[in-house]
Amino acid sequence: MKIDLLEFFQHESDKGYLVPLESNNNIPFEIKRVYFIHGTSDNTKRGFHAHKHLQQVAICVSGSCVFLLDDGNKKTRVKLDKPNKGLYIGNNVWREMSDFSDDCVLLVLASEQYAESDYIRDYKEFLGCKK
Ligand code: TYD
Repeated sequence: MKIDLLEFFQHESDKGYLVPLESNNNIPFEIKRVYFIHGTSDNTKRGFHAHKHLQQVAICVSGSCVFLLDDGNKKTRVKLDKPNKGLYIGNNVWREMSDFSDDCVLLVLASEQYAESDYIRDYKEFLGCKK
C-alpha cells in the first residue's frame, strides 16, 4: 500500500517545540496546497474517496483522529496523535477518517492544487480501477 508513517524532527527548547516541514525534504513532494480540518465532532466521518494522482501528508497538529486506508486488497488503520507524526498517502488509496478528538486540527499538505476531477468518490469505481 502506498502509505508511510513519517516522524518529523522537532526542535525542542524551554520555549516549546518547532516542527519544520519542507518540500522534497521531509515532505516527499513539492507542496502545492495546504488545508486543515477542524471543528469535527467525535462521530464525524470524512474522506470516503481516493485520488487518481494526488499525494498528501496528513498531520494532527492538535488532538487525534484515525485513518482507515484501503488499497483495494488490504486495509489498515492508522491513528494520528502527535504533531510530529505524519501520514503519507499516495495516489489510489481509499481513505476514511473518524474518531476525531474535540481538539483535533488535521493539517494536510498536498502535491497538487484542488481538482475535483482527481477524486474517485465511488468505492465500486475505486475497486474497478484496481483490476
Ligand atoms: P473533501 O475533500 O470532500 O473533504 P473530506 O474528504 O475531508 O470530507 O472536501 C470537502 C469540500 O471542500 C468539497 O466541496 C471540496 C472542497 N475543497 C476545496 O475547495 N479545496 C480543497 O483543497 C479541499 C481538500 C476541498
